[in-house]
Amino acid sequence: LISMPAPIAGARLGNGRATAKFILIGEHAVVYGRPAIALPMPALAMRAAAVPSSGELWLDSEHYRGPLSQAPERLAPIRAALIATLSHLGLPDRGLVVRTESAIPIERGLGSSAAVSAAVIRSLFDLAGLTPEQDELFELIQVSERVAHGSPSGLDAHTVTAAGPLRFERGVATPLRFGLRATFILADTGVRGQTRAAITDLARLRERRPDWVEERFARITELTSASASAVELDDVAALGGHMSEAHGILRDLEVSSPELESLVSAAEDAGALGAKLTGGGRGGCMVAVAESTQQALRVARALGDAGAARTWLYATGGPAA
Ligand code: MEV
Repeated sequence: LISMPAPIAGARLGNGRATAKFILIGEHAVVYGRPAIALPMPALAMRAAAVPSSGELWLDSEHYRGPLSQAPERLAPIRAALIATLSHLGLPDRGLVVRTESAIPIERGLGSSAAVSAAVIRSLFDLAGLTPEQDELFELIQVSERVAHGSPSGLDAHTVTAAGPLRFERGVATPLRFGLRATFILADTGVRGQTRAAITDLARLRERRPDWVEERFARITELTSASASAVELDDVAALGGHMSEAHGILRDLEVSSPELESLVSAAEDAGALGAKLTGGGRGGCMVAVAESTQQALRVARALGDAGAARTWLYATGGPAA
């Protein structure tokens, strides 16, 4: 067994942070240049510390502790981000222990892969006494997102480092005017999401039935625009309707799963104004919306009874700035 390299006494540490995200509407269609809306979740954070140490580059995380060169395949995205950032900063790829600590469940469509990269990248910049520019940060996160799931739209990379809700289309993220007073309920199916498989299968479906798929993307685009108005004008009922309709389309596009279907139905039966899968699908998380805290608590309880592994409440509040 190799032991963890010793930290260099008195050396400056680098710290970095990023947050979870959820996609309100527009996932998958966004990969094909359609708009989407996503919200950062500041309460669910990912933290990284870069610690100057003797010896080779190490990772110290809940899922793996050891030399980066021997990290399992599923850590390839984070390895790619680390190596790209060290090279970008002109730092050697040794003499560091990179420690990560996360409140974001992995492979649940909540952006943990983009968030871990963002936190690590920021910690390396911080170690060098620098703060990355937004586009520098974005490009480096995308290095790892491409390894993680092939053709990332960039939505996750933007949202995990964003200050507030945003609208995203064709690589451009814009802050969204957000006047919604509502509570979102997120629930984890307990099943790993399969973003890469969902994206690949949808690409095949689109090759086989291009018009049919494009018609559905076009409707998602309309629902996304209508949702942007609903969140600006504080129309929770309209937003809920758009979310549920978008879910039905995602189901038709074959990116849902039995577990997601049962949670979405449970939320709607418990009085949610709308519910849908969020993120890549095929497992992972769903999101519902309620107009009051009381209603949200009832929905969260129903989701727990229906088998959700975990639920989170996220209240948004007040007139658009
Ligand atoms: C994954 O969180 C969202 C997808 O739209 C993929 C992407 O935007 O890259 C499924």
